[in-house]
Amino acid sequence: MTVRKAEKYDVSLLYALERELFLPQNYPLSRGSFLYHVKNNLLYIAEVEGKVAGYILVLIKRKNAKLYSLGVSKAYRNRKISQELLRFIFQELISLGFSTLFLEVRTDNEAAIALYKKMGFCELKKLKAFYGDGCDAHLMQLKIEQ
Ligand SMILES: CC(C)(COP(=O)(O)OP(=O)(O)OC[C@H]1O[C@@H](n2cnc3c(N)ncnc32)[C@H](O)[C@@H]1OP(=O)(O)O)[C@@H](O)C(=O)NCCC(=O)NCCS
Repeated sequence: MTVRKAEKYDVSLLYALERELFLPQNYPLSRGSFLYHVKNNLLYIAEVEGKVAGYILVLIKRKNAKLYSLGVSKAYRNRKISQELLRFIFQELISLGFSTLFLEVRTDNEAAIALYKKMGFCELKKLKAFYGDGCDAHLMQLKIEQ
């Protein structure tokens, strides 16, 4: 598995993966959004034998970094790909001078919560009815260490 920066030409494949990962009510990213993030944020792809297996998107604004989205195609799950994407992005953030990473995750997303806890994220608070369907979110934080 290799991790590389997403490029403009990856947008169609990323969009196809996004539709596999997230239902319309979970606000999947559009092609236009992917294009925007390729240029303006940290968008990285996990490739396995030349195929796009997953991606990670971190938004950076001034001194804040937020893990906005992370997903691995069903065909490639349980191979530690998301763990590797997270490890990769932690190093990127350190090199850019960030020391804290925030995220929001649905309280019903057990797999993602287990992943984030394993990677050292702590729950800061619960955000009531954070999502459009009324689901709560956990606001989580990680102090990134070298
Ligand atoms: C959550 C998700 C990204 C995990 O990707 P993955 O590459 O299969 O995860 P990994 O193999 O790297 O797993 C690392 C750790 O995460 C946790 N984990 C991953 N999948 C899990 C599951 N189905 N149930 C419980 N824990 C899980 C475990 O702690 C695991 O460590 P372990 O294998 O030693 O037990 C993937 O299931 C996914 O893409 N889901 C749909 C999109 C999504 O919900 N994204 C997150 C919110 S934006």
